[in-house]
Amino acid sequence: MEKTIDETVQGSVLDIENKKNNTRKLYIESYGCQMNFSDSEIVASILANEGYSTTKKLEEADLVLVNTCSIREKAELTVRKRLAKFNAVKKINPKMKVGVLGCMAERLKNKFLEEEKIVDMVVGPDAYKDLPNLIQEIDEGRDAVNVVLSKDETYGDVAPVRLNSNGVTALVSITRGCDNMCTFCVVPFTRGRERSRDPHSIIDEINTLWNKGYKEITLLGQNVDSYLWYGGGLKKEFEKATDMQKATSVDFSSLLEMVALAQTKMRIRFSTSNPQDMSLEAIRVMAKYENICNHIHLPVQSGSNRILKAMNRLHTREEYFELIDAIRKIIPDCAISQDMIIGFPTETEEDHKDTLSLMDYVKYEYGYMFSYSERPGTMAARKLEDDIPEDTKQRRLAEVIALQREHCQYRTEQNLGQVQEILIEGASKKSDAHWMGRSSQNTVAIFPKEHYKVGDFVLVKMNDCTSATLLGEAVGLSKNN
Ligand code: SAH
Ligand code: F3S
Repeated sequence: MEKTIDETVQGSVLDIENKKNNTRKLYIESYGCQMNFSDSEIVASILANEGYSTTKKLEEADLVLVNTCSIREKAELTVRKRLAKFNAVKKINPKMKVGVLGCMAERLKNKFLEEEKIVDMVVGPDAYKDLPNLIQEIDEGRDAVNVVLSKDETYGDVAPVRLNSNGVTALVSITRGCDNMCTFCVVPFTRGRERSRDPHSIIDEINTLWNKGYKEITLLGQNVDSYLWYGGGLKKEFEKATDMQKATSVDFSSLLEMVALAQTKMRIRFSTSNPQDMSLEAIRVMAKYENICNHIHLPVQSGSNRILKAMNRLHTREEYFELIDAIRKIIPDCAISQDMIIGFPTETEEDHKDTLSLMDYVKYEYGYMFSYSERPGTMAARKLEDDIPEDTKQRRLAEVIALQREHCQYRTEQNLGQVQEILIEGASKKSDAHWMGRSSQNTVAIFPKEHYKVGDFVLVKMNDCTSATLLGEAVGLSKNN
């Protein structure tokens, strides 16, 4: 399974269980990473308390919110096109207000109001609790902007409304922001410095989800392995914490263990892991608890040491291989997936070959591959010329995608003949007579429905496959139900 840029910039319209007395209509659309989708659930929750119910019909909305992504230029262009569409609708419904949330809001700030006349409100990722005040401002006819980044906001006290939920899987955010400063990346600028969420509020959220029937959660952060709770505040200020705070601090491996023990039948995933921060202890905790899924999303971005250095990824190709070897030793059937950037400034054919050979070594289950997109304000944009011609980028990207497809096929075929535990998420998109679910390794499996139901853990014998999907038949319920 290879995924390219288009998939990650797909928008999704969100719908919530509406409260009866809520009369104002909210239309909310999200772009980009899982964190944005999770944030939209927080925003919907805040606005549900302000008298809003959601609608999927743009035309009837009183308030249109678009939660935006800045990670690549194409993601921003997609949002600009949507704003043009909202403009056309506003001509029919002049009372409609439009707000821009998320990373583009943070990056462009007031400039948005000048550049896009349609926009009434600009709200950065740390300012969602201010939405009630900001909405009052726009109701009174004034533009409203809040793009203040926070030292401690984690929305730990906001119970997210689950949007467009399948009732089985849910996202739980554990950290916000990022301190890594990869030279290509806009996230540290748009989402601010890294801070972690109180583990008790994380466990409470997971218990609530279990009681509502959810069976799988994904712990979310830009760099989950860097999680560190010492009573609140920025990660980089940990050194200033008291001895007591340091002694009782909770790191990612401890959090993972707490979560695994809190709900022993809840499946647990996490994303994203950064190779330089992933600890052997976290891998050991994964191995120790059956309910933690055997899959690590471990972006590497490039296989060349020279490029890794220019990207400020703080590990070498050799250290990455050591980590891969350690994972395979501790969890032999662990799936590993990647993110890759093709055509970073100065990338030579030699560097590109290093990327291909790194992929050959790991043989990733799947990956997300992107051609380099220069982001204003980043270190790479300031110091390096975006000098790889577009056709070279595209040719190298095609080679990387083709190789990933081969590896994906190889990995999927390894499952044939096995019986695996699949958690049913819903009907197959292609056939109403089949269920779709995922294995612990995150591979999609399709099988006849029989008497099974959504949310069941089912043992499935794998008989056939396409490059990324297993086709099987159920042989019984798993003991984990
Ligand atoms: N925190 C994650 C990644 C966040 S962004 C990590 O540790 O890697 C998701 C992915 O987008 C990145 O892994 C990278 O592959 C890609 N990406 C980020 N900035 C990019 C840029 N300027 N051009 C192309 N791809 C980019
Ligand atoms: Fe971006 Fe690197 Fe953080 S890719 S989100 S700066 S780990």
